[in-house]
Amino acid sequence: MSGSGHRVPLGVAVWTRYMRGPAGVRYTQAVIDHFDSITPEVELKMDNVATAPGEWTFDAAERLAVLATTEGKEMRGHALLWHKQIPAWVLRRTWTQARMTDFLSEHVAVTMNAFRGRIREWDVVNEPLADDGSFRASLWSETLGPEYIGQALTWAREADPTAKLFINEYGAEHGQKSDGLLRLAAKLREAGAPLDGIGFQMHVSTSCYPREHELAATFARFAELGLEVRITEMDIRATDLSMSPSERAVATTEIYQEAARACAAEPQCRGFTVWGVDDSTSWLRTDKAALLLDDDLQPKPAMAVIRAEFDRVSV
Ligand code: XIL
Repeated sequence: MSGSGHRVPLGVAVWTRYMRGPAGVRYTQAVIDHFDSITPEVELKMDNVATAPGEWTFDAAERLAVLATTEGKEMRGHALLWHKQIPAWVLRRTWTQARMTDFLSEHVAVTMNAFRGRIREWDVVNEPLADDGSFRASLWSETLGPEYIGQALTWAREADPTAKLFINEYGAEHGQKSDGLLRLAAKLREAGAPLDGIGFQMHVSTSCYPREHELAATFARFAELGLEVRITEMDIRATDLSMSPSERAVATTEIYQEAARACAAEPQCRGFTVWGVDDSTSWLRTDKAALLLDDDLQPKPAMAVIRAEFDRVSV
């Protein structure tokens, strides 16, 4: 069988709080055994790193970078600018345009430089759109205007010209929000902004998820603009309560498989990350079956199914 020749690393969001103690050793080993790439779940978000005016700390993210380097894994940088997880001192301040520009450009530069050569792709702006695909108002846009997105990409390119720069978004896999994101991406590219790709989070559910052909069409539209694409945060909430646990397991495997197929078929899709190591540490606390490893860290059928889709194209 001949594939399109591109490799799709399987990535995972990792949270250092789960790496402590004996249980943490097993958790860390599962990351090493089953995944090719690591995304810090919280460790690089602004509230974790920009601790005080003029001060940044990267200890927790550094632990993950060391793990990645030691174990030969890639690392995704998530996320430089987001409307959530903003430090309290930043929220409390009164910002002028000039001060905000200084702070954000420094935040981007300091953070990227701390991981230069080790983190090769960054979510520069996370979730810039509202659910209807229009522009989302945030502290950043209120102070700098919608131009903050292009500016952030420019600061990021200057900080590390070797890094690939992404906009990351949820619910933009199809429909109105996808159209809005395509318009934004096209506008940024026309204006010469250094945007390299789009991350599709893929927080989906058993009753609402994009089918393979819808995802493939979306990926193709962005690839036509010259952009790479990624699946960056996939998990599957069980919202269809009429399903038995076994029906739900089958449905979940199929949803993962369709997403993996769409990514495998698109040469620009070069990364597929799930949002958590196992069901017991998922951010979806009320729902214990959203991920690829069960709560005893054993791989579920979806793991092998996804790997098979990726192996098929990498030959
Ligand atoms: C989530 C983490 O998983 C939670 O633990 C944290 O409390 C909040 O953020 N979109 C994103 C991710 O881009 O960063 C979010 O992660 C989930 C939604």
